[in-house]
Amino acid sequence: MPAKDLTEHFEALNRFLSEHQALWRPRPFSDRPMAWEQTHGQLATWLKSRSLAQAEQAQAEPHKLNAPEPFASLAEQAQALCQIAPLPLINSPQLPNRLSNDIPGRKWLQIQAFASSLSFEQPTKHWLDWCSGKGHLGRLLARQGQPLSCLEHDPELVDKGAKLSQKLGINAQHIEQDVLAPSAIKQLKTEHTAVALHACGDLHVRLIQLASEVGCQQLAIAPCCYNRISTQHYKPLSQPAKAAGLELSIQDLGLPLSETVTAGARVQKQRDISMARRLAFDSLQREIRGLDEYLPTPSLASSWLNKPFAEFCIDLAALKQIPPPPASTDWLKLEAKGWELLAQVRNLELLRGLFRRPLEVWLLLDRALYLCEQGYAVQLGTFCSRELTPRNLMLVAERIGSARQGCG
Ligand SMILES: C[S@@+](CC[C@H](N)C(=O)[O-])C[C@H]1O[C@@H](n2cnc3c(N)ncnc32)[C@H](O)[C@@H]1O
Repeated sequence: MPAKDLTEHFEALNRFLSEHQALWRPRPFSDRPMAWEQTHGQLATWLKSRSLAQAEQAQAEPHKLNAPEPFASLAEQAQALCQIAPLPLINSPQLPNRLSNDIPGRKWLQIQAFASSLSFEQPTKHWLDWCSGKGHLGRLLARQGQPLSCLEHDPELVDKGAKLSQKLGINAQHIEQDVLAPSAIKQLKTEHTAVALHACGDLHVRLIQLASEVGCQQLAIAPCCYNRISTQHYKPLSQPAKAAGLELSIQDLGLPLSETVTAGARVQKQRDISMARRLAFDSLQREIRGLDEYLPTPSLASSWLNKPFAEFCIDLAALKQIPPPPASTDWLKLEAKGWELLAQVRNLELLRGLFRRPLEVWLLLDRALYLCEQGYAVQLGTFCSRELTPRNLMLVAERIGSARQGCG
């Protein structure tokens, strides 16, 4: 993809995100009430009048929601800005089933999709699986005999991966390596094709930086968990992102991850109960403290949800070291209020959700533009459906000179 196109796409997304910050930065759960509920009163009232089931229904396709403006226009703009085509598929021969042993079904499908989306101009010479876990992806890529190096910091996974490779007769080295340590650069070679499937924030950024420094021939990255970074704010990589002036906190970086398409019904139910209870507690603590302000609460063991509701609130008040709830508390009413607030929050979140993909694409384009600046030709595309994983965007990069005419 030419750098000019990538830059134009980035600039358009940057304008969209910058202009509407007031709509996507505040989080309905913790920032109740949000300023935009005043400025877009009609939309807020409409959303807040809807049920939890309606919010859930709309989540998958919010652009189809017949909500008052500016919802529909923003949905349309967001969609137009996030048209990312699938990466070209390579014709891969039938994959040997034995390689899928020991891999959960969804992960195996993701790995196959990732491998089928790697089209390079130059032949690959040596695969490097970055944050490899047991190295399932690397093994699939190296099945025709190319050497494979897997980097992973968890010794148990390194050991299990090495045993699997040996059992399957794959020519692999499983190396225990913290990829964030200074020594990681020594593991990278120019002849490497480095792949990273769902390596979190700092981990895949580190690969992009080190691989560029070493000049690895090819790279393919499907990022995830953009908010797992060691700094409080996002550090842009490319020149356009550095100049863009869009400051992103760790909380903002969580926005692309707030989609729940792959959660099972049981998990979703548990999450709903937990959130409804927390919202009820939040309402209670505002009264107890006489302060209309959100009070963050820590994540709690799932056993907390087995407690009767009143006990949950009393124990959480004690944990937060605030005065106990008054004896006159109407627990039934409070619990119902929690569910009412949850329905409101979920519906209000639909507006914020319109910016989820634009922010994710912005982050991907920052990585793509950086790789272009470092001398790579870059393709950005999807490698599988969003049902298989919402983190379905992938960057495929090949060093210019060793390959095609580049980004510009
Ligand atoms: C989400 S998993 C992805 C694993 C594999 N790529 C896959 O898709 O199955 C992330 C992996 O990164 C590893 N990891 C986390 N921090 C690391 C670090 N600092 N250095 C090396 N590996 C790390 C974890 O142990 C885990 O195996």
